Amino acid sequence: MSIILGIESSCDETSAAICIDGKICSNIIANQTVHEKFGGVVPELASRAHQQNIIPTVEQAVRAAKVHKNDIDAVAFTRGPGLLGSLLVGTSFAKGFALARNIPLIDINHMQAHILAHFIEEPAPEFPFLCLTVSGGHTQLVLMKDYFQMELIGQTLDDAAGEAFDKTAKILGLPYPGGPLIDRYAQRGNANAFAFPEPQISGLNFSFSGLKTSILYFVQKMEAEQPNFIHDHLDDICASVQARIVSILISKLKRAAEATGVMDIAVAGGVSANSGLRAAVTELGEEQGWRVFIPRFEYCTDNAAMIAIAGHYKYLARDFVGQDVAPQARYGL
Ligand code: KG4
Ligand code: ZN
Repeated sequence: MSIILGIESSCDETSAAICIDGKICSNIIANQTVHEKFGGVVPELASRAHQQNIIPTVEQAVRAAKVHKNDIDAVAFTRGPGLLGSLLVGTSFAKGFALARNIPLIDINHMQAHILAHFIEEPAPEFPFLCLTVSGGHTQLVLMKDYFQMELIGQTLDDAAGEAFDKTAKILGLPYPGGPLIDRYAQRGNANAFAFPEPQISGLNFSFSGLKTSILYFVQKMEAEQPNFIHDHLDDICASVQARIVSILISKLKRAAEATGVMDIAVAGGVSANSGLRAAVTELGEEQGWRVFIPRFEYCTDNAAMIAIAGHYKYLARDFVGQDVAPQARYGL
């Protein structure tokens, strides 16, 4: 039997989870609201909030899983990618915890963990499978050959899909993070109301910065003509923008499936919580005969359950790191 404590602190969520024999028994997430009024995550404020939240979050995760700290066999933590000051809090905590209890330390790549979140619950995809990972900082198409054997076959050349949502929200005067709000307004709007351009990027890579610029110019032009344009058309703007972001993602996913011949298709990361994306992937999957896998909402956005499950698989492989391990803001797959 193995009990793994997972720690996530890469961005603006402090999270701790307990995994017993591959089963998630608790997943506590402390969200940081201090960033809302700044229109994005303020790194210094994020680090301070992690510092305040980490101990109570871990205590709560241990209590909720009905285990004792002495029974924990290993501690897994997010090593990167992410904000360095935020990563340092989780890394330092994990190191101290492992040292004090004389248990192994397991470093986890946050982007790998988003994909491995698919192994938290049944049914799980089978190798090889394709994963579209869409978060606030990354947009990746990954061919998963085994738990830690993966090939990056496509990625964004500029902004991430989540950034496209968040920057659009900022243009529209909505608070951070804007993705969930755009999703909510989009559900009441007409996706064909306004046409935004689809970037012409060859192969399996993505680009979202041109879309962001075209939205900015469009909104500025319309507001000059009709001062209440955003207010009066918010639902339709959100629905149209969301439809374009989703169509960009879907067309590359379809192309990647064709290129690899893989039929198990997974979506991971915060943007996989988007209702338009979930519906579009499900619909395309039915048309293409894919098996589609999308984690439950709480395992899509940043959480420690995905760190703990990734830690479980590394624990089985006895893949540990020493006390000299350092967090890495930039950290490839
Ligand atoms: O994976 P995640 O929680 O954190 C990172 O690793 O970046 O992803 C956060 C991103 C943010 O950009 C947020 O706006 C976006 O996921 N997001 C959504 C939705 N929920 C979260 N975007 C669109 N629709 C949603 N429902
Ligand atoms: Zn993430």
